[in-house]
Amino acid sequence: MRQDMLGVVAERYDRFGPVVRQSRGPMKMVNLFGPDAARTVLLDRAGIFSAHRSWHLIMGRIFPNGLLLRDGEDHRLHRRLLREAFRTPALQSYLLRMNEMLGPMLQGWDEHGGNLLAFPRIKAMTLDIACQIFLGTGAGQDVTKLNEAFEAAVAASMSILRLPLPGLEFNRGLQGRQYMVRQFQEWLPARRASESEDFFSRFCHAVGDDGRPLSDQEIIDHLIFLMMAAHDTTTSSLTSLLYELAVNPEWQDRVREEVRGLGTPTLAYDDLLRMPDTAAVIQETLRRYPPLSTIPRVSTEPFEWAGYEIPAGVMVVIYPIHTHHMREWWSDPFRFDPERFQPGREEHARHSHSYVPFGGGNHMCLGLRFAEMQIKAVLFQLVQRYRWSVPDGYQMPVQQAPISKPTDGLPLQIERID
Ligand code: HEM
Repeated sequence: MRQDMLGVVAERYDRFGPVVRQSRGPMKMVNLFGPDAARTVLLDRAGIFSAHRSWHLIMGRIFPNGLLLRDGEDHRLHRRLLREAFRTPALQSYLLRMNEMLGPMLQGWDEHGGNLLAFPRIKAMTLDIACQIFLGTGAGQDVTKLNEAFEAAVAASMSILRLPLPGLEFNRGLQGRQYMVRQFQEWLPARRASESEDFFSRFCHAVGDDGRPLSDQEIIDHLIFLMMAAHDTTTSSLTSLLYELAVNPEWQDRVREEVRGLGTPTLAYDDLLRMPDTAAVIQETLRRYPPLSTIPRVSTEPFEWAGYEIPAGVMVVIYPIHTHHMREWWSDPFRFDPERFQPGREEHARHSHSYVPFGGGNHMCLGLRFAEMQIKAVLFQLVQRYRWSVPDGYQMPVQQAPISKPTDGLPLQIERID
């Protein structure tokens, strides 16, 4: 299932239709397929789907109280508090910072005869960016222990055996979380006193509708969750993107030409809207490889869907990866074809919820614009420095769940452009 989520669920849909019941131990699960299901579950007009109850089961002990683990009024309050850190002036400041960081980070990708394992390199890069932009760590500050703690926490959130026993991955994750909590507590007084532009300092100064600031523990919980929400998803998208640009060199050239056409040595915030080919390439990559292939909720009341009665307390799962490949909504869906998003075709507009890499409704990804900006900032510098490829006939082996990634690290051949 992890390797070929799409194959498994497409077969279920073809055999049984848009509603499929499934038993997983004591948990009752219902799979709902297609864009209508995505709309019903994500928009949740009836207020009957809990994000908290589903995500808490999956990651609640490692990433408690993150935004996605909140429902209703509590979620609305916290989302408003965090939103300031994602508005345009804030994004502009992050972009300036990213531009400075990326130059040194992208150096040396052509070393070792140009043989580069892309996934670990991208992962290290996005984690470094997150440490500086989210946490306000200084350039060059040693964050190795923090990185290790974070990695352990993320791995534990996917663990099957969830027991706090020495030697188990889950236990290492709990310890990783504790390390992060202690570290962030230590940094808190300095961030509270600072007017810096990192997320950490911004959260320290955020005030809710009721005039209440976030408590120390709330700030720490939000930061730890954000690191997780941002890091693996952006790493996954960038890796898939580099792969598709390697096997579709004509698109790599189009992105390069577009970037050169901007005529600027540094990417400015306004340039982000002047990159339509790059935007289409990103959209198509997220269609083919949505980092989150599934989105779960728990029903809090019984409801009717496509003629079936679905009880309360059921894990209701929708599948962006399947919706993104339905022949009913996409032409030649397994083909990498960014033009399908461009004016004149706009296949994604055929249904409001046939394209949902960032989810939708109240819990729609808060970091959407941040993610797109970061991907464009990386591409902007990368395509001007390097050309990259894979050997003829190479196909990236993908593990599609829980977060899409290549199982071989994606070996690339990198060549410097002089
Ligand atoms: C390409 C990269 C990304 C993808 C594909 C992605 C995808 C998603 C999806 C599908 C959800 C909704 C999950 C659900 O409804 O159950 C979500 C939620 C969220 N994402 Fe992202 N994400 C990305 C990057 C980021 C980044 C960079 C950040 C932060 C800087 C971020 C922060 C969040 C937060 C805070 C939520 C919870 C929103 C809420 O509950 O109100 N994401 N993301």
